Amino acid sequence: LPTTLLRQVDGYLQEYLTQKSRRKENFSDLWCATPADSGGTDEGLFEPPKSLSCSRAVVDKFLCQRSSQMRDQQRTWQESPDGRKILEFRSSLPAYKEKEAILSAISRNQVLIISGETGCGKTTQVPQFILESEIELVRGAVCNIICTQPRRIAAISVSERVAFERGEKLGETVGYKVRLEGMQGRDTHLLFCTTGILLRRLLDDKKLKGITHIIVDEIHERGINEDFLLVVLKDLLAFRPELKLILMSATLDAELFSSYFNNASTMKIPGFTYPVRTQFLEDILEISGYRLTPDNQIDDYGPERIWKMNKQLPGKRKSQLSSALEDVLRAADFNYYSPQTSESLSCWNPDFIGFNLIQYILCNICEHERPGAILVFMIGWDDINALKEKLLTHPVLSDPNRVLLVMCHGSMDSLEQRLIFQEPEDGVRKIVLATNIAETSITINDIVFVIDCGKAKESSYDALNNTCCLLPTWISKVSVQQRRGRAGRVQPGECYHLYPRYVYDSFTEHQLPEILRMPLQSLCLQIKSLKLGSISEFLSRALQSPEILAVQNAIEYLKTIGALDENENLTILGRHLVVLPMEPKLGKMLIFGVIFNCLDPILTIVAGLTVRCPFLTPSDKKDLAQAAKSQFSHDYSDHLAIVRAYDSWKDAEIDNAGHEYCWKNFLSPQSMKVIEALRVEFLSLLKDIGLVDRNMSSCNAWSYDMYLIRAAICYGLYPGICSVVHKDKSFSLKTTDDGKVLLHSNSVNARESRIPYPWLVFNEKIKVNSVFLRDSTAVPDSVVLLFGGSISKGDTDGHLKMSGGYLEFFVKPAVAEMYQSIRKDLDRLIHSK
Ligand code: CDP
Ligand code: MG
Repeated sequence: LPTTLLRQVDGYLQEYLTQKSRRKENFSDLWCATPADSGGTDEGLFEPPKSLSCSRAVVDKFLCQRSSQMRDQQRTWQESPDGRKILEFRSSLPAYKEKEAILSAISRNQVLIISGETGCGKTTQVPQFILESEIELVRGAVCNIICTQPRRIAAISVSERVAFERGEKLGETVGYKVRLEGMQGRDTHLLFCTTGILLRRLLDDKKLKGITHIIVDEIHERGINEDFLLVVLKDLLAFRPELKLILMSATLDAELFSSYFNNASTMKIPGFTYPVRTQFLEDILEISGYRLTPDNQIDDYGPERIWKMNKQLPGKRKSQLSSALEDVLRAADFNYYSPQTSESLSCWNPDFIGFNLIQYILCNICEHERPGAILVFMIGWDDINALKEKLLTHPVLSDPNRVLLVMCHGSMDSLEQRLIFQEPEDGVRKIVLATNIAETSITINDIVFVIDCGKAKESSYDALNNTCCLLPTWISKVSVQQRRGRAGRVQPGECYHLYPRYVYDSFTEHQLPEILRMPLQSLCLQIKSLKLGSISEFLSRALQSPEILAVQNAIEYLKTIGALDENENLTILGRHLVVLPMEPKLGKMLIFGVIFNCLDPILTIVAGLTVRCPFLTPSDKKDLAQAAKSQFSHDYSDHLAIVRAYDSWKDAEIDNAGHEYCWKNFLSPQSMKVIEALRVEFLSLLKDIGLVDRNMSSCNAWSYDMYLIRAAICYGLYPGICSVVHKDKSFSLKTTDDGKVLLHSNSVNARESRIPYPWLVFNEKIKVNSVFLRDSTAVPDSVVLLFGGSISKGDTDGHLKMSGGYLEFFVKPAVAEMYQSIRKDLDRLIHSK
């Protein structure tokens, strides 16, 4: 029997055995594996056996019993007054009207692709339809449905909703599992999880035994994990003809997916949304007249003047409109949107959204418009926070009797999540400040007004320069449509786009899939660990294959860091890196921390690099923020600054003053909490793998050896390394690939005039005009010689080979040779451990 099923059966068997022994019945209907297991004597037969295998008939009996129990429970709920009320709501959803069609399509096809407008009931209803129908068919106990979500908070909130609709507690029939959290039990038959969790499960259970239905949700987002999963599932379907795969999406290129799965059937759930009145920036300015004054002088560039100019110069309409608008934008602190410079500004100037304009629109809606919640799409969590701070100083918007202000982003905790769905009291207007997570994954019911800043953070990878970045970029037209659609769910709505129409016209139709714009290292490791054959061959079978150069870079990188050997096979180190749910470089750091007994600070660094930056730099208090940060930065290391900040926060937490401490020192309390949780998770992972002793409660306390910590950072980040050349009172930086590089202005090293070591290792480089290095740490020669890269990349004649080139190394050949021999031993030590 598949393990999942065994686990369930096991539970029932235990109960059965207990009852039997209570009743003093014998166990002759169970066939014991060996007589010894049953005690071997007549008496022993009345003791529950320690281990046993039993006949299929017994198992079937349990499953049958349980299935009818489930059906009775379901019926009782559906006939109860609450159950009826919920059923009434559910049947009003467009998806419900297609229930029979969906179920019959699923039974007829192995693969089905379902699309429908956001909010039509795909995520909450389709898995439920399957579960309900299986239960009705008295197959409840054998059905196992997994529904993947790209984001953890969607998985949690949706599972809560579905459990609620089934009149159950979460963790009974319906559960969820995401990194750090989960709620599932013996009786869970519908599990919402992140795509990453399912991929991880594939590591242990390649055939996904016992799973009857897999639903991959939100495939239109084309996340790298989803694209990868589809290739794996495509192969699996051939081995498991009874396994059903359902792909779901909001706006969908159904043809693409259908042809990928040999012309699989597609279904569209007809949707209904109310009309949404759309206003671009020029329209907003027009309706607002000149009321934006006196704050930001829009008066001078009033809409009339723009329209007049347009009339006078029809041929040059667009350029005139743009330049006039640009002035308007600038006046309204919208310089961010300047099309020529948006990239550099957006990256280096965090103060880029027209906060004044947003505040103005919000205030207008609150004072003059009909009731209805407002959803504001911002770029990221930083802007959301900054905007919130600004709004809290506004007399109307900060009044809790008039406004309920909530935030919606990827790292919310469960309490915050619940606030989003909360209905405000009469006369109070809900304002939700959200990232693009509210675009499709999360549906908030009462939204009538949407304000859209037009941007989202998008990661991109440039294979040619081997650089990657996470930058705010314009969203696609499809996303604009999604955002707009959120306003028309309950009644006719309004949408304010904070950019001019000509900018919208320049948006691309769809966003590029992640697999084409992300580094592929983790993916390559996963391919290897799932034994899926040659990396290039596997990726060539993806929905859209990544560039060959990107694949080669990833393989080369994995070889450099010692995760793959020359033949592209996983090394021992590589095998350990696969099970750590983080970038390989961070996994390497952890492993180093374990071996050299400096795990505590490394856990903080790795957790800190996994979350967003814990240091806040509000635009109006930059100097204060920098000053606060400098107290953590004596070590010429951004990574160690995270450790110092976290440790001080922990100290403050002991006196319950953590929040205040963060507030005073420009630290993000949420980030600190996430770091804390991730530390615990990573430690328990290391215990699971067997690298850390299971009984260890906390890791080696404050025995921070700076040399070792620098070594751990270098061991992880290599080949991210540059040389430091001092000249007069300043220094310059060079890497082999890029030549001269610069430091990101937020780096603690950017404020130094001297670096005491000849090397900086860095986490990430970003190319915007020049190449900039984010978080960096200064390291001495000996660390690079001993821990930089794998042994095969080192060279004995006083040079160090780095990513294809040689960097001068001012060490005597004999000394270098000595280091090399120590390295060999170390390498052996690390690999053997
Ligand atoms: O997946 P899709 O966007 O098609 O919709 P859904 O997430 O299944 O949501 C269907 C409906 O359930 C929404 O329109 C909401 O009215 C409701 N819902 C809710 O009230 N609370 C939630 N946490 C989730 C959904
Ligand atoms: Mg959905």
